[in-house]
Amino acid sequence: MSSVSFDFNALAPEIEVRVEALLAQMTLEEKVGQLFQANLRWRDDLDDWIRQGHVGSLLSLNGAEQINRFQRLAVEESRLGIPLIIGFDVIHGFRTIFPIPVAEACTWDPALVEQAARVAAVEACVEGIDWIFAPMVDIARDPRWGRIAEGAGEDVFLGSAMAQARVRGFQSANLPGGRRIVACPKHYAAYGAAEAGKDYNTVDVSERSLRDTYLPPFKAAFDAGAATVMSAFNEIAGVPASANAFLLKTILRETWNWDGVVLSDFDALGELLHHGFAADHREAALRGFLAGVDMDMMGNAYPFHLANLVREGLVEEAQIDGAVRRVLRLKFALGLFEQPYTDPALAAQVQFTEEHRALALEVAQKSMVLLKNEGNLLPLGAGLKTIALIGPLADDHHNPLGCWHGRGRDADVESVLDGLRAVLPEETILLHVPGCAIEGDAAAHADADFDAAVSAALVADVAVLVLGEAEMQSGEAHSRAHLDLPGRQQELLEAVAATGKPVVVVLMAGRPLVIPWMVEHVPAILMAWHGGIRSGQAIADILFGAVNPSGRLVVSFPRSEGQIPVYYGRKSTGRPADSEGVIQFDRRHRSVYLDEASTPQFPFGYGLSYTDFSYSDLQVETPEVTLDGGVVVSAEVANTGGCAGVETVQCYVRDLVGNVTRPVKELKGFQRIALEAGERRRVRFEIPVRSLGFHNLEMRYIVEPGDFRVWIGPNAAEGLQGEFVIKTP
Ligand code: BGC
Repeated sequence: MSSVSFDFNALAPEIEVRVEALLAQMTLEEKVGQLFQANLRWRDDLDDWIRQGHVGSLLSLNGAEQINRFQRLAVEESRLGIPLIIGFDVIHGFRTIFPIPVAEACTWDPALVEQAARVAAVEACVEGIDWIFAPMVDIARDPRWGRIAEGAGEDVFLGSAMAQARVRGFQSANLPGGRRIVACPKHYAAYGAAEAGKDYNTVDVSERSLRDTYLPPFKAAFDAGAATVMSAFNEIAGVPASANAFLLKTILRETWNWDGVVLSDFDALGELLHHGFAADHREAALRGFLAGVDMDMMGNAYPFHLANLVREGLVEEAQIDGAVRRVLRLKFALGLFEQPYTDPALAAQVQFTEEHRALALEVAQKSMVLLKNEGNLLPLGAGLKTIALIGPLADDHHNPLGCWHGRGRDADVESVLDGLRAVLPEETILLHVPGCAIEGDAAAHADADFDAAVSAALVADVAVLVLGEAEMQSGEAHSRAHLDLPGRQQELLEAVAATGKPVVVVLMAGRPLVIPWMVEHVPAILMAWHGGIRSGQAIADILFGAVNPSGRLVVSFPRSEGQIPVYYGRKSTGRPADSEGVIQFDRRHRSVYLDEASTPQFPFGYGLSYTDFSYSDLQVETPEVTLDGGVVVSAEVANTGGCAGVETVQCYVRDLVGNVTRPVKELKGFQRIALEAGERRRVRFEIPVRSLGFHNLEMRYIVEPGDFRVWIGPNAAEGLQGEFVIKTP
């Protein structure tokens, strides 16, 4: 597989000539048409709109034949024959479904994630899809928000690495049939900061948080070549993101000098009415366009109003030309004028191949996180005679597909039951009992059969419970206020645990769950997320030790909903929980809860292995560095356990005193290293000093001389600590 990306930024000058020649022939209505994206439900007369050259793009079509049919209308029946650009949500695989993105990120392996994105692009492009509405690069620190499933978690550095990997994979060169794909990082911006974790909700973050936390993964995606972006639904401090000139002009065009296409999210311009930001669709079109939205997804504003706004003199035609140029440039770069159609026969050749399925298995295996393993209950011995496999997700062929599964099919999914049957010797007895439904009210649980579950556990050597969320409980518009096990699963778990048999919980979910009882009472817990089509095999491989788990969390797990947001890169406050010295009245006047710990249940970066790793001898090889230099820091990492394993070694930094306050820790490097039992290695990080900056009081990005702390460790809460100084020039 080639990992070379197609370079949209290196457009041949010849394309500019073609763009200008075409633009010169276009009527105002045809120009506006290029700025409009519809889906099949938009209007009954969509075909006619396309024939008139009044539609530039379509989204969410079904298959090569349908896409070719619409392309023919545009190319063969419209006056100028401009091809459509076809968009689709390819979020974690297209036909071969991979683990949800937050799980993929738990591999901490950008090269692997890039390969998965390339597979998705290969499978999507042959159906005629040109434009992938991904990666979602929204930093998310609130697991109530269902779309935490679609991103890379809470961290800026890791999120930026994953954003780049996905863009490179989607925009791979050498896709089958000579086709090309363009990525669309979303949702610009700060969509993940929705108040109370409720989807689409108000966002009110400071400009500094925007610049230091929410925008960097977008910038990283553009640096990797992303040639489009999707503007978000949410408002930020009173200005909806899809009519936000600060985001769309000041940052995108003026600060970053980026010249790609801005697509609004689904009717986000129409939604300006609900925000109370536009009185009608005419005003929505005006405010959205002047702020910098090039293309109106679902077009309730541009197709009906933009041309009139030009005639009224409120929008200059030159501004329309600018947006149309960007769209046409993209269509030329994608090669759509030369090759608008796709060969329907290609899909069968390149989709769902053995190679793709093998990669889905590898990603699933590496994405799962071992949260607890008391007494080394896992891996289970192959000599077990009877296993009780309990829980509503134990033989589920749908939910492991996850929240946004493209053309994935239930029939493709290996359940845990399938996986165990595949790895266990024939004589092992597997007692499968669903126990209860995943969610729902009493009616959904009419068949709940705790007795059968308990009976199975009582005669078994071990009970494996597969519990968690349905795929529809995470993803878009699926926020939850209670993050415990849905339905009656907690009762089921407690009933089985009361048998006294060893219990293993495999958790499938689209987000971190709040599971304090489980953490206290269950000896072994594997976070399997929604792991895609190969979930069952991957889980079986981990449970029985064919694969040593290596996933590490990319989001902190809260102990209770009241802690949210709980994330490692927080600020200190004037009264930190662990502070020394005089504090008003007594020790309780600190930034703590009366009734809950301040630390998360499991920190960012955390995950266990079947072996043990120890860290020693941290050396700051550059105790003093200059602003243009690099910090070199290293530590010995040893595999002190009994088997080979992979450790993700993490490097964090703290700027002790700043022009503005700085987070208590920031990830600045990570390396996955494989160590045989007994092997040790010195792991070295070289951190460019220029990456240690932030936006200061004047909102300028600066790196400040001064004292820093540095850690090398296994997660955000542990590690060896050292110091270095950035010298004043
Ligand atoms: C979502 C986007 C998605 C778009 C098109 C919207 O509701 O927010 O993430 O790309 O629909 O399906």
